Amino acid sequence: MIIHQDYPLQSLNTFGVQQYAKQFGIVQSLENIHQALVLDPNPFIIGGGSNILLTKNPDGLVLKNELKGKSILTEMDETIIVRLMSGENWHECVQWAVSHGWGGIENLSLIPGTVGAAPMQNIGAYGAEIKDVLIEVAAMDLQEEKEVIFSNRGCKFGYRDSIFKNPEYRGKYFITSIVLELSKHPVANAKYADIEKKLTEKNITHPTIEDIHHAVIEVRQYKLPDPAIIGNAGSFFKNPIISIEQFEKLKSIKHDAIHYPVDATHVKVPAGWLIDQAGWKGKTIGRVGCFERQALVIVNRGSATGEEIWKFAELVKNDVFEKFDIHIEPEINIW
Ligand code: EPU
Repeated sequence: MIIHQDYPLQSLNTFGVQQYAKQFGIVQSLENIHQALVLDPNPFIIGGGSNILLTKNPDGLVLKNELKGKSILTEMDETIIVRLMSGENWHECVQWAVSHGWGGIENLSLIPGTVGAAPMQNIGAYGAEIKDVLIEVAAMDLQEEKEVIFSNRGCKFGYRDSIFKNPEYRGKYFITSIVLELSKHPVANAKYADIEKKLTEKNITHPTIEDIHHAVIEVRQYKLPDPAIIGNAGSFFKNPIISIEQFEKLKSIKHDAIHYPVDATHVKVPAGWLIDQAGWKGKTIGRVGCFERQALVIVNRGSATGEEIWKFAELVKNDVFEKFDIHIEPEINIW
């Protein structure tokens, strides 16, 4: 593995922030991981760079994950079990599944990033989450230098959360591959309002997974900025989960407050809606702004630094707290 010094990371993160890695290498095999650990036992791992904000130069070794491969493990009457290597592009894997008629991840079309990042934050969109189809995750334990398997349960999935985001586990594993169970006779999931609306617009009454795939792509392309054109990392904040009492308080300020049920005592409120209501949608300060079609997305409008983006995010967060007494927390990883 070639190790580069003071390597520029601007093209490796979708915010397009310029920072430099003291040392940098590309991982294309498990052997490369062992080689890297000799140089630095705690490397930073970068996948598609679509869920990180670099606020400073990473101190040690940065590894770009390029472990590639997609394979069929078992085929049964109803389902097919596939293994995806973690350095594969997520959307290309969705296209691969849809083109074979295998259902389960079509609602997760066009999510930027790599396969390895998908279980880390339990990616989700339009009524689906990766945890619904995931069998297991294989990861290299960076201390023991051996591969371990996490079952679906062992991943402790939550809303945009997994064991890999837990401070105790963070940075301890290099996810190497994931195993998914996809359906050979899929039933399309078109329950999410935006998708339903798009299908109606297209006069589709009995959608196939391919229809869902295209509808999701169109909705995302309209609502979310393309990182190749304008730097961003998708949703910057998680949708906060609050108590029913807190929601009642919110409703006394905003009668039309939106919420999704979570359990008997909690609801989830869209952070994008809160930010929008606080007046931030489309607003720009210096080189950073809130996207005009989805306030949850913070965009780099010029060559903003990671620190400028973080400062802007804090202004938004504090303002939402002041106005609605609700804490919103970043969904993305801050380096
Ligand atoms: N809303 C506003 N103003 C805004 C943004 C949203 O009023 O500026 C309202 C919408 O009208 C809607 C509600 O808030 O009633 C929810 O908005 P939306 O359906 O766009 O979804 P979201 O909750 O903002 C989540 C995910 C997205 C995912 C969509 C669709 C999180 C943090 N974000 O966004 O994920 O694509 O649902 O399923 O859960 C990502 O993680 O990067 C991401 C884009």
